[in-house]
Amino acid sequence: MGHRIRIENTVEGTSILQALQAQGEYILAPCGGNGTCGKCRVRFVQDPPAPSQADRKVLTEAEIAAGVRLACRTAAVKGAVIEIEAGDEKQMDVASGFVLNGAPGRIPGQKEPEEGGTITAAVDIGTTTIAMSAVEIGSGRILGTSTGINHQRSWGADVISRMEASNQGKGGLLQKSIRADLDLLREKLGLAQDTRMVISGNSTMEHLLQGLSCKTLGAAPYTPVDISLHEYENMTILPGISTFVGADIVSGIVACGIDQSEEICILVDLGTNGEMAIGNRDRIISASTAAGPAFEGGNISCGVAGIPGAVSSVEITDGNARVQTIGNLPPVGLCGTGVLETVYELLKEELVDETGLLDDKYFDDGFPVAEGIVFTNKDVREVQLAKSAVRAGLEVLLEEYGADYDQIGKLYIAGGFGQKINLEKAVGIGLLPEELLDRMVPVGNSSLAGAVMAACDPSVLERMRAVGENAEETALAENPLFSDLYMDNIFFPEQD
Ligand code: FES
Repeated sequence: MGHRIRIENTVEGTSILQALQAQGEYILAPCGGNGTCGKCRVRFVQDPPAPSQADRKVLTEAEIAAGVRLACRTAAVKGAVIEIEAGDEKQMDVASGFVLNGAPGRIPGQKEPEEGGTITAAVDIGTTTIAMSAVEIGSGRILGTSTGINHQRSWGADVISRMEASNQGKGGLLQKSIRADLDLLREKLGLAQDTRMVISGNSTMEHLLQGLSCKTLGAAPYTPVDISLHEYENMTILPGISTFVGADIVSGIVACGIDQSEEICILVDLGTNGEMAIGNRDRIISASTAAGPAFEGGNISCGVAGIPGAVSSVEITDGNARVQTIGNLPPVGLCGTGVLETVYELLKEELVDETGLLDDKYFDDGFPVAEGIVFTNKDVREVQLAKSAVRAGLEVLLEEYGADYDQIGKLYIAGGFGQKINLEKAVGIGLLPEELLDRMVPVGNSSLAGAVMAACDPSVLERMRAVGENAEETALAENPLFSDLYMDNIFFPEQD
């Protein structure tokens, strides 16, 4: 299986997952230890314990016989030796490219810093991944960019499970984990460990980095401890708007110049929390919507992250799918773009109807996208829920702003997924509005772009402070218009 580890000190009642977390070992645990995702597999080198009910549910007989168990459902015994999978995640395609000042393209590769130049590390801490750029302050040159996994994933894939872990007394471990990740990235960039950092990220990530309590983030009225622009140790922490609309969106707003624009523009981040903002230099309204992880390959039966072998593009003709994979490797699952394209192609071929039901032929077992990869009715449903949440959120923001599509200058689409999606297909499934197709601008990692700008220019920090303090937030969950639009958008648009 891979990496061998000996379980060290254990406290009674500790699971293997908790023991590994305490030992600083990384293990994938998307459900946060609830025994439902089946991803925290470990193999006992000898004397495996009796399998739990959860083991029997998600593991095959052969796996159980080989000593594989779920780490979160197995009690830790001191001295036990287990193996954990290194996983393909290390090769995950992390979004670090962005469009800055209208200049598209990826950040140039690593170069030698100029002698004597002051270097700052601009950082985007995402829930899944982290990107860090070394920026030369005087020249504003990006000397190099490094990316990695956020190893807090051992405590769950989403911000809610991280908050819960922190609230259960694991805040110190989560803080240690993210600090180790930042140390690693600075090391990869050849930066000294005391290099200043400018940090962008969602509000939960910023709280965990500073060891702040997450207790008030997850419960009404969802008040953050501190999302102001401030200094913490050797870091500048960029400001957020609220618990749900964090510094990553403020960075994106400023990087896209929305806060200085005369035209009304929209920024939408198509991640799990579906954050978005509309506005111009006079007024900005933001929102976040629980879109779910479908467009990151999450909650999809054969979904995977953007790893080598992930199906990223799909074409279906006469019931047969032709796929492209990352790295042209044999297909291992569907990443976000693969999920979106599968749904679009199924709709186009009338193998899924507008209500989201698969054709009779594929109704029970799903549509075969590639060998061993099927797309089921439940998967279509996940996409419907995600796209409807994003679309309804956009429509509510327009309504609250009192604007219509004609008045929108640009629709900026942030995030790695947004940079890679086929916009026509995104419109085809109803995720994005057709009316804005000619004004959509994928901007990549605009959170990192904002951090880079802030590292070089104090006036950018002031702009961010103003956005953090003045931008409004509208609560979609309590908005009856959102509920109506959400239901209206559940179905797919008619195909031409
Ligand atoms: S089954 Fe999800 S973490 Fe163990």
